[in-house]
Amino acid sequence: MLLTSIIVFATAVVAAPVEFPLPDGFPTPNPTQLLNIQKAAGGYLPKSPLPTNLTQNAISALQLLANNEFFEVAFFNELLTNITTNVPGYCANDTAPLNRELLIKSLRAIKNQEELHAIGANAILVNAKQPPIAPCQYTFPVSNFKNAILFAQTFTDLALGTIPEIQLLFALDGGDEPPNVLTLGSILAQEGQQDGFFRYVQQKTASAAPFLTGGSASFAFNALQRLIVKDSCPKPLSTLNFPTFRPLWTIDPKPEPSWPLWLTVKQAKNTTLDLSALDFDNGGSGDYSVVYLSGQNLPVAVPILNYDRVRGSSYETFQAEFPFEAGFANGLTIAVVVLGKGPFANAAAVADATLAGPVVIEVN
Ligand SMILES: *[C@@H]1O[C@H](CO)[C@@H](O)[C@H](O)[C@H]1NC(C)=O
Ligand SMILES: *[C@@H]1O[C@H](CO)[C@@H](O)[C@H](O)[C@H]1NC(C)=O
Ligand SMILES: *[C@@H]1O[C@H](CO)[C@@H](O)[C@H](O)[C@H]1NC(C)=O
Ligand SMILES: *[C@@H]1O[C@H](CO)[C@@H](O)[C@H](O)[C@H]1NC(C)=O
Repeated sequence: MLLTSIIVFATAVVAAPVEFPLPDGFPTPNPTQLLNIQKAAGGYLPKSPLPTNLTQNAISALQLLANNEFFEVAFFNELLTNITTNVPGYCANDTAPLNRELLIKSLRAIKNQEELHAIGANAILVNAKQPPIAPCQYTFPVSNFKNAILFAQTFTDLALGTIPEIQLLFALDGGDEPPNVLTLGSILAQEGQQDGFFRYVQQKTASAAPFLTGGSASFAFNALQRLIVKDSCPKPLSTLNFPTFRPLWTIDPKPEPSWPLWLTVKQAKNTTLDLSALDFDNGGSGDYSVVYLSGQNLPVAVPILNYDRVRGSSYETFQAEFPFEAGFANGLTIAVVVLGKGPFANAAAVADATLAGPVVIEVN
């Protein structure tokens, strides 16, 4: 029973991939098309001078950022199509009581803004003589408006947690990268506006918590990997300089709606999670923990309980306490399996010890 459900999760939902270039010319619009994208986005690409020299870490971070923006463009493009063509699950009664005209106007602005984020990240790469990122094909684990918006909130939360770490990298990396800190700050705020909208649409408070959850580029990279159609990425994505972690799934509470590394916890309470992973133990018997990042707390490590291996397979099952009432923030919590018990000083130290994950948990 348990094994069956794991295998169902492992063969993810496949949605029709978005074809690039889009009708508006993205990702390589001609000058007239670019002007139209900027008009529809409500503003223009940054005019400040771009760095001419980037460190390897900065290149990887920008490549990840560009790819994540491509993913977001594909998502919002398809969401708009679903709504404007009245795909079942996206019809007027599904989006009620929202003002449908304003909803479409907002999503259209967001799609065009994301296009400029992607074009902007690639422009920085190209100015520093690096190849631009080209889009992959992505799958979206949703088939109705409600879940699509919850999903948008979740991946935006993950981006909001990752961008500050990339800003820190640009600030400390030397060279002529510091101006990127300002550009990323402007993108961070912009995505925060989007996130407030996604939350409001779901009748949640517009802002989740006083201090949002920080992350690591490695976690964003691994989450994105699970949404990319296998072998659909043109180079240089495959050469991105991030570690690949083992997949981690949530079994109970059930993932919602169908993305196995995505969990909505309805009650802001302590609970126990049933998790599954693929072969992180590798036959050994290490000292493992589940580590949570929530708000601006120090990482919280809890022991793995009831570790077991599904007979004749590489699937591992175990439990972990989810101690929300020990000071976690509403909104995003990131969970990973690490080697060791901690304590971990920050998200980067957690990422260095991570074996499997992340699972992204939304509370409230
Ligand atoms: C670029 O930066 C690296 C160090 O990060 C330095 O070794 C190299 O000389 C720089 N190149 C140019 C053209 O400034
Ligand atoms: C659009 O609708 C299709 C058909 O239900 C679904 O497979 C796809 O995931 C939806 N995309 C988004 C972004 O909601
Ligand atoms: C909207 O209407 C369709 C067709 O009448 C129905 O299948 C669907 O369940 C409705 N959606 C909601 C959220 O009520
Ligand atoms: C929740 O879990 C934390 C950490 O284990 C514990 O300190 C706290 O007392 C628990 N709260 C409740 C209400 O059970």
